[in-house]
Order: sequence, then structure tokens, then C-alpha cells
Amino acid sequence: VKRSLSGIKSTGIPHLGNYLGMIKPAIELQESYESFYFVAEYHALTTERDPAAMRRSTQMITAYFLAFGLDPARAAFFRQSAIPEVTELAWILSCVTHMGLLERAHAWKAAKDRGESNETNHGLFGYPVLMAADILIYDSDVVPVGQDQIQHLEMTRDMATKLNLAFPGADLKLPQALVQKEVAVVPGIDGQKMSKSYDNIIEPLAPPKALRKQCMKIITDSKSLEDPKDPTNDATFALYKLFATPDELAEMEANYRGGNYGYGHAKEALFQKMNEYFTPYRENYERLMADPDTLEDVLEAGSKRVRPVVEEVMERVRSATGLGRP
Ligand code: TYM
Repeated sequence: VKRSLSGIKSTGIPHLGNYLGMIKPAIELQESYESFYFVAEYHALTTERDPAAMRRSTQMITAYFLAFGLDPARAAFFRQSAIPEVTELAWILSCVTHMGLLERAHAWKAAKDRGESNETNHGLFGYPVLMAADILIYDSDVVPVGQDQIQHLEMTRDMATKLNLAFPGADLKLPQALVQKEVAVVPGIDGQKMSKSYDNIIEPLAPPKALRKQCMKIITDSKSLEDPKDPTNDATFALYKLFATPDELAEMEANYRGGNYGYGHAKEALFQKMNEYFTPYRENYERLMADPDTLEDVLEAGSKRVRPVVEEVMERVRSATGLGRP
């Protein structure tokens, strides 16, 4: 069987973009792929400075995956830091990776443009190398991600090719990104890509009151109730589209175009739809969060499960590169 691998940074609670773009597709893949998913704490550490927040985020993310149906009997779910060898592989990859490749990374360029000195640390510069190590250390076949990670997957293939050429026998496997078109870029409440750093997120499993409040904060133009509205250029409609049936969507579209509907109505419809969808998962989530020991047990079992793969790949790489006792 082929192997699916993906990661999510422990920088807070997952948002709707994480859920639709990665968590949901990743969990679906557990049916047909051997699945390895992890919490990317080392990547979070490029910005996170609060250890309690790091641990809490790791548990929230774990509870999210379990609440949405990740089955620990089938899939491995674990902490990135439980496999410290990824930092070893990252170093080895660093030694065949040109500065120029890393300087072209979108995330690095954006951080540099923002010019916050704390953001332009060495870890952030080397971020794609660590991510490549995350993927390559498990001989991964496919990597379910949102569109913003495609460049990182291209860089991963680039680094694997370089190492394989420089050190015959390393035999790193070239992975494939899996991106689902309709949810490749989930919009936030301001219509831009949903992202924690844009402060425009919806938290899918927030209590109903909070979820409703987040929906009501969606930014619209200033058309009044009777004005015909353009659904193709509206964040509420774009989000509704991700949950509604074709009939429901057609109905909302008619209401927009006919001007018999205010944005408030559309937001309320979106809230109702999402709340209905997420309520059973929210109940699972709250139950899981009340039992942190179980979450920690799942994480520990996950890292034990992936360890043999890591040892095999690292043995190949160490031996090909001439590290350690022959
Ligand atoms: P992170 O934590 O930023 O996001 C986790 C996943 O969510 C996807 N995503 C989105 N998808 C659609 N619409 C959005 N608005 C949206 N926002 C986020 C991301 O594409 C991602 O798939 N570098 C990674 C974590 C990582 C990783 C890995 C991923 C570390 N090592 C190895 C795959 C393989 C990141 O920061 O994701």
C-alpha cells in the first residue's frame, strides 16, 4: 500500500481552511493509504514562544483529528518532536540545498517583507528543508495539503533529487502533493485566504454562539437588502458553497441576484448550515479535550508505529552519505 503523510503546525486551534484543505482529505485517505499525520511543533517553534500554548495546541489538533474520525488503529498520529531524526535528515538535506532555492520560498519572502526581526530567524529560512525531511523520512507517496504548500512539495522533490544524485543508495522517494481543487484555498471572513496571520479565521468547532459571531463578522460590501448582489464576489456565498447542496446554493444565488435578501440573511444561513454540519464533531471534540491522557496515549502510540520506517530510511541515508560506523 502507498503511504500518505501530512503535518499541521501547532500554532493555535485549527481553522476552517485547515479542516477543509487538509484534515478532512487526510482522514479520508486512511481508507486506502497507510496514513502518517503529525503535529509540526518544530515548525511552530519558528514563531511560538509560549511552551504551554505549544502543548495545548498539540492536544487541540490531536482532538480535532480524532473528533473528525481519524482512527488510531489504522492511521498513525504523532508529534513531530517524537522523531528527532527529522532534524538530522534536515541537516543532511541542508548540505545539498542551495541558498538560492530557499531565498525563493514564498513564505520566507513574505516574512522578510514584513520585516519583523523575530520572524526572519534561521529556522524560518530553513523551514522548507525541515519540511522536506518530514516528508522524505517516511518514504511518503502522497502529501495531502492546501495550495499554499505546493511550492514546499516542489522544493522537497528538488532536495530529494539532489541528495539521490550526490549519494547513490540514499534512494529517497519523490512524493506527490495531493490538492483538492474546490478547497485548495478556503477564503477567510475578509475574502482573502483564511490564515491565522490574517486574523480572518472561522473555528469550525467553536461553540455555536462563537461560531455565529464569526459568521456575522464576514466582510461584505455596503449593498442594502433590496439591492441585487453579485454572489461570485462575496465571502459568505463562497463559504456557503462549501457546505450547501446544489439546490440550496441555487436558492441563495437567486436571493442575491433578486435583491430579496440581505447579507445578514445569508450569514445566518451559512451559520445554520455549518452548525448543523459541525455539531456532532464538536461533541466528540469536547469529550476528547476533557481527557488529555488519552490524547497523549494516541500520540505516543503513533510515534511507535512510524519508528521502524524512520530507522530504515535513516540507515539508508547514513550509509549512503558515509556517516557512522560501516
Ligand atoms: P499549516 O499548519 O499552515 O496548515 C496545515 C494545512 O492546512 C492547509 N491550509 C489551507 N488549505 C486551504 N485553504 C486555506 N485557507 C488553508 N490554510 C491552511 C495547508 O495547506 C496545510 O496543508 N508547513 C506546513 C506544515 C508541515 C507539513 C510538513 C505539511 C510541516 N511539515 C510535511 C505537509 C508535510 C504548514 O505550515 O501547514
